[in-house]
Amino acid sequence: MTNNIYFIANWKMYGSTSTLSSLNKLINLSKQKKYNKAKIIYFPPFTLIYNFMNKFKKTKISIGGQNCHHIENYGSFTGSISPKMLKELGCRYVIIGHSENRTAGETDANINKKILSALNKNLKIVFCIGETLKEKRKKITHTILKNQINKGLKGIKNYKNILIAYEPVWSIGTGVIPKHNELETNVSNIRKILSKKTSVKLPILYGGSVNDKNISNLKNIRGIKGFLVGSASQNSKKFIDIIKKTIN
Ligand code: 13P
Repeated sequence: MTNNIYFIANWKMYGSTSTLSSLNKLINLSKQKKYNKAKIIYFPPFTLIYNFMNKFKKTKISIGGQNCHHIENYGSFTGSISPKMLKELGCRYVIIGHSENRTAGETDANINKKILSALNKNLKIVFCIGETLKEKRKKITHTILKNQINKGLKGIKNYKNILIAYEPVWSIGTGVIPKHNELETNVSNIRKILSKKTSVKLPILYGGSVNDKNISNLKNIRGIKGFLVGSASQNSKKFIDIIKKTIN
């Protein structure tokens, strides 16, 4: 596993061409030696990927798609984007299994097909897992995470292009983050589940209400190699603060 710390900006269905100038300060930061180990990846909506590519052309910042179809190349699927299309645009990553898509009906089987297709196209996967509040209250978090990992990663032979993003559903967009012990336990359980599948040490990231205030606590969680940031990533100043406070 590399020494990189991942800072992932998931813009969801937000952003317009006028928001691009707000990224200048972040680009400057990414060029400073001090932040060399910050691996910054942006996931803009599909409509802005091309603009982001141009904006980040001479930088080390990578770009990914927020989702993809499970068919690798082309097909009659209105409104969908394939792994091949993302790759052709210059994307290096794709998010798969985000809870917002699981809630909208995406199944573990579908997620598994998407991961296999995207890996075939040499995309790196940010594979999202996490329990709902109901599941947490029932104390079945461990089983849920185990099922999501085993079903989502079924048949994977090469793990080296996969990152795991642990995003408790109840923490996304709520301002509530897990308690220190709870988060460390869940991350350590994820590590144990993964170690039964592969000897590759996949980076485990945390996502859910990460902001410029709680990052000082979150960065001390054992076993976490970075953060998947939603709303705070749309504000460049906050996103920069998150990076600075983690690395400093
Ligand atoms: P928030 O940071 O807005 O809670 O979103 C987290 C998330 O879903 C990132 O993928």
